[in-house]
Amino acid sequence: MRSLEAESALRSGYFGAYGGAFVPEVLAPKLLDLAREFEAALADPAFMAEYRSLLRDYVGRESPLYLARRLSAEIGATVYLKREDLNHTGAHKINNTLGQGLLARRMGARKLIAETGAGQHGVATATVAALFGLECTVFMGSEDARRQAPNVERMKLLGAEVVTTDAGTGTLKDAVDAALSHYIGHPDVFYCLGSAVGPHPYPSIVRRFQSVIGEEARRQILEKEGRLPDACFACAGGGSNAIGLFSAFLDDEGVELFGAEGGGTDVAGLRTAATLTRGKPTVFQGSYSYCLVDDSGNPVDAYSISAGLDYPGIGPEHAMLKDAGRVRYEPVMDDEAVAAFRKLSRLEGIIPAIESAHAVALAEKRLAGSGRLAIINLSGRGDKDLGRF
Ligand SMILES: Cc1ncc(COP(=O)(O)O)c(C=O)c1O
Repeated sequence: MRSLEAESALRSGYFGAYGGAFVPEVLAPKLLDLAREFEAALADPAFMAEYRSLLRDYVGRESPLYLARRLSAEIGATVYLKREDLNHTGAHKINNTLGQGLLARRMGARKLIAETGAGQHGVATATVAALFGLECTVFMGSEDARRQAPNVERMKLLGAEVVTTDAGTGTLKDAVDAALSHYIGHPDVFYCLGSAVGPHPYPSIVRRFQSVIGEEARRQILEKEGRLPDACFACAGGGSNAIGLFSAFLDDEGVELFGAEGGGTDVAGLRTAATLTRGKPTVFQGSYSYCLVDDSGNPVDAYSISAGLDYPGIGPEHAMLKDAGRVRYEPVMDDEAVAAFRKLSRLEGIIPAIESAHAVALAEKRLAGSGRLAIINLSGRGDKDLGRF
């Protein structure tokens, strides 16, 4: 009964041994308030009705579940794509930022802050800030700002301040550090966290707001095929689109679940973002979960061609699911992801985000010639990646 474990995490802050809230004292009461307000919002029909109506009329949900015929023929399986790339702002991130934006408004906050890697969460946060008339500052590593430049322009156009940091490798880990330290100094702002990571209650909040992906996909595949899929695939950076899809299938033992990690170029040599494959449990950025560490146990910088997967941590629920053997997490190397990025573009006329291309590449490998029925979560579209490969 794994969905029950997620319910109890909402109260306890722990997914099995993983999770918790390892934060400075100044933030502890803020996070307790947030957890209380989140629970109250979930039980408030008016809050949920507004959330659902915005998902429908503003985001454009439900997103289609599309039978990719040419990709299916190429792989030798029946493959459906869950089209999160068709959401307003081009990725799954908006499902979560809308929910958190509504929570921020409910809590009387005037300003949102966020970290971003690929820029999709930053764009989604800036969008929601504009929608609700809130101020917005987005923290981004300088390397990510360079490789995802179109999204920096979008955030600015939407009225957000974009603060880049040169610390570390200028990627997502450094952006989270910058956002967390701003939050510690200004606990009156609302931190709109972009993945199922960080201190309690964020992993539970993000899971809940992304679970719409799995709820829809489960209903849609039953309508179209009259049965559940044999397998589901999603990429895992911090793990929000993956848990959004997987959450609806956790109790269905017959549905195999696969998470594609950013393999980078060398998993053994740590030029990788394959946290669950190569990392160890440790406390990192507010919670206890797997993390890429050096020989002394200190967190190290991750590497992936994909800014959205380039993160040394992972959400605590994924750590639990890995240990339980319920989800298989496997690295997909940079070159495999680029090949899948091109292949999906040519075969289906769909240019995926490079993050999502990792899930496509893993599905190709695991389904080859099997004739099985599968869903791949297409977490975002590739506009931000044009001209890079
Ligand atoms: C399109 C897309 N997919 C996936 C991810 C990875 O994030 P998560 O693992 O939280 O879904 C990102 C992160 O920026 C993204 O932009």
